[in-house]
Amino acid sequence: MKTLTKTRSPASGIKLKTSQFQMIREVIYNYCGINMHEGKEALVQNRLLKRLRKLGLGSFDEYFSFIENDKSGAEFLSLVDVLTTNKTSFFRERKHFDFIERNILPGMAGRSVKWWSAGCSTGQEPITCAITLLEAQQRIPWTSVKILATDISREVLHTAKQGVYTSHKIGDMPAPIVNKYFNQWGADEYQVVEEVQKMITYGRLNLTKPWPLKGKFQLIMCRNVMIYFNRETQKEIVAKFYDLLEPGGYLFLGHSESIPSDNKLFKNIAPASYQKQ
Ligand SMILES: C[S@@+](CC[C@H](N)C(=O)[O-])C[C@H]1O[C@@H](n2cnc3c(N)ncnc32)[C@H](O)[C@@H]1O
Repeated sequence: MKTLTKTRSPASGIKLKTSQFQMIREVIYNYCGINMHEGKEALVQNRLLKRLRKLGLGSFDEYFSFIENDKSGAEFLSLVDVLTTNKTSFFRERKHFDFIERNILPGMAGRSVKWWSAGCSTGQEPITCAITLLEAQQRIPWTSVKILATDISREVLHTAKQGVYTSHKIGDMPAPIVNKYFNQWGADEYQVVEEVQKMITYGRLNLTKPWPLKGKFQLIMCRNVMIYFNRETQKEIVAKFYDLLEPGGYLFLGHSESIPSDNKLFKNIAPASYQKQ
């Protein structure tokens, strides 16, 4: 009779030590400002185990040596990829887009629009910006549009550039919008149309390092990103957004994020929506 032997992947049963968690925490904080709180050990362990499995490594020490010896730096970036939280969706926090359409876009008639989605994840946010502009174009004929979409994670940017989403991911949008802006791509996948993708430039940018950006934006969205940073980092980034916005330009944060009320740079005009003073 055959005996069933359970196959074990090299990475199963490996525990992340508290000292290893602290080390990762410090490295990630110094690199991209993400503040991984105590109590996130299990989450970090599970995410790192994905890399160990992929590389066929048997311990976290081996993995850390692998990163140190990888002079290309590629594995360090994969570590950043797995440790970032990329949850997003089309028309997420929809009130922002309704507000923009109603109160901001009318002022853009006859102008060129520059909009930055900072921390764009897999592309749903900048695609929503583009669709909002296209839907408004009949009434508010803007002359040209540039949507800059940046993120620190190479993996999400790769997905964003492909612009292919499962039906589950596009399911929250009304059918007429899906039919107009997405083409069926596979059995259960849809690709965003070229007209939309052409409006967006994707790039890798670490918000906590110097930004190689010029020119003024009318709109900046940095939603559900600042929540991972400490107060000091948030303040520094908000001040840099201020410099990059045109006078009277707009900044949108996630609905659970805010600029401290004692700030003199921005006026709070709607929930998590600010105008440069
Ligand atoms: C939760 S997602 C939010 C996506 C989108 N803005 C939304 O609200 O749906 C946060 C994104 O911020 C990115 N991120 C985290 N730290 C960053 C940093 N230092 N620089 C740039 N992007 C960062 C992550 O990679 C992730 O894709």
